[in-house]
Amino acid sequence: MERKARTTVPKKKRISLYAGESVRMLLTRAQIRKRIGEMGKQIRRDFPGEPLILVGVLKGAVLFLADLSREIGGEVTFDFIAVSSYGKEARSSGQVKLNKDLDASIEGKSVIVVEDILDTGLTLQYLLRILEQRKPKHLRIAALLEKPERRIAGVHADYVGFTIPNEFVVGYGLDYAERYRNLPDVGILSFTSSTSSQK
Ligand code: IMP
Ligand code: MG
Repeated sequence: MERKARTTVPKKKRISLYAGESVRMLLTRAQIRKRIGEMGKQIRRDFPGEPLILVGVLKGAVLFLADLSREIGGEVTFDFIAVSSYGKEARSSGQVKLNKDLDASIEGKSVIVVEDILDTGLTLQYLLRILEQRKPKHLRIAALLEKPERRIAGVHADYVGFTIPNEFVVGYGLDYAERYRNLPDVGILSFTSSTSSQK
């Protein structure tokens, strides 16, 4: 499977939507669109003629799933799952809570879990464990982004859009305190004043 090398910052562009926060461009909408086109084709090549269930991990993967699904072609259905992790500070605890389960059975089905970003891997490790118990025919992972430096769990994504440096990114579905999900591009968030660093 082809993998894109570490991406470079295309433009020295910075925006400030919220006081005390600024976002520096990392991946433009054009780069994202092109890469998702490639990923969609790759997935369909791997599963020719096969009905696929895309399982989106709410909420970050919504934009990615919407665009990826249109690039796969053929029989594709959607389902969604929502999880939250206990205490973001204690990341190594790996405690994940299921907030919303799938609507339908995946037994005997070909399933692609669609995630925004593979960071420590703890969320996907938990999801894979519960989804595998339901005996899907195939279970694959598509992640738009991955930060390999932070991996704790031995989770491997079958389809990766971009490998990015160890920075906190927002946009194209990814949030900071629920903000920035609607940015069409992905950028690196930084704080320009100490007053706004709540979360
Ligand atoms: P993991 O369990 O550490 O792999 O974390 C996965 C989740 O953490 C992702 O689905 C995101 O919701 C969130 N996350 C991790 N890194 C970032 C980031 O850089 N920006 C926004 N959300 C992130
Ligand atoms: Mg997420």
